Amino acid sequence: MKIGILTGGGDCPGLNAVIRAVTQTATREFGATVIGIEDGFEGLVDCRYRLLTERDVRGIVGLGGTILGTSNRGDPWHYPVRKPDGRYEIQDRSSDVLRHFREMGLDVLIATGGDGTMNIAKRLIDHGMPVIGVPKTIDNDLSATDQTFGFDTASQVVCEAIDRLSTTAASHQRVMVIEVMGRYAGWIALNGGMAGGADVILIPEIPFDWDAIFRRLQKRQDNGHRFSIVCVAEGAHLPEGGEVVREIDNRRTDAKQLGGIGAVVAKRIEEGTGIETRVTVLGHLQRGGSPTAFDRLLATRYGVAAARYAGQRQYGVMVSARAGVIRAVPIKDAIAKTRTVEPDDDLLRAARSIGVSFGDE
Ligand code: F6P
Repeated sequence: MKIGILTGGGDCPGLNAVIRAVTQTATREFGATVIGIEDGFEGLVDCRYRLLTERDVRGIVGLGGTILGTSNRGDPWHYPVRKPDGRYEIQDRSSDVLRHFREMGLDVLIATGGDGTMNIAKRLIDHGMPVIGVPKTIDNDLSATDQTFGFDTASQVVCEAIDRLSTTAASHQRVMVIEVMGRYAGWIALNGGMAGGADVILIPEIPFDWDAIFRRLQKRQDNGHRFSIVCVAEGAHLPEGGEVVREIDNRRTDAKQLGGIGAVVAKRIEEGTGIETRVTVLGHLQRGGSPTAFDRLLATRYGVAAARYAGQRQYGVMVSARAGVIRAVPIKDAIAKTRTVEPDDDLLRAARSIGVSFGDE
């Protein structure tokens, strides 16, 4: 059996643990050959790949990023090709992907990625290609699985950043605004913010009101608190104008790039309360570096399961974790809907119980 593996979309900690687990399981348990496809679906369009042996994946369980490379611009049906004049032309290169898959002699493709990658995987399955999905993303926004790997590490980074911001904020009696990633879901802001002890958490799922935030921060100051932390998700909606979009890039699988809300929130807080306010945009620090032990283990279990499904010729599925048990779900279920924070989410309710403000009351 010949198994192809690629990592698509934005990188996240734990990808190398998946590559290692797939390679070791497939090689050891059923003598398969594993082919690493470079830079996500771009490698299938351009036919760039290399053999992965157990030796190649030795010692990478704790390594951040992906040894195979990845890309946000690899949608074969929407493939940006650079013309001699420097402009990009969008082309349909899906037939190249199907042809290269056959020419490489692959039996199955293991596609590790987020919703963009799973959507491409689903289209390839519809065209007859055997694919198995492995869910990764720091955003934790894939339905059909309780958790994607990368999310725990990102939450830990946010937590540590808030710990650091708190000491400097207290010294200067400031409000610190921290902008975190997560796209259209508030999971990173909720988890990281709660772990770090944020006083206000703003997420896309809960519309907020400026006065409610000002009241909360003012009250904290009146009660003698020397500082406050506001953790804002990049996808939170401004009361007067929706999301803050940094850039639209049509070459990407998701053209919209969010970013910039932290600065808006900080400015409004300073104007509305008179309290000196600073902003930190955590950005790609949330995606870089070593995975936590939790993410290494989850990614390893996902990789082992994906290899086993390949060995059993169980295709068209995504590996998923439900209540701690790894299982296979149809990829179409995984992309049916973005998994966002529900009003009755347990952590959300716990946050409200301890007095965290979401800017809505
Ligand atoms: O989906 C993961 C993610 O990190 C989002 O949280 C963020 O909006 C986006 O990717 C950033 O993308 P890029 O790395 O292309 O700037």
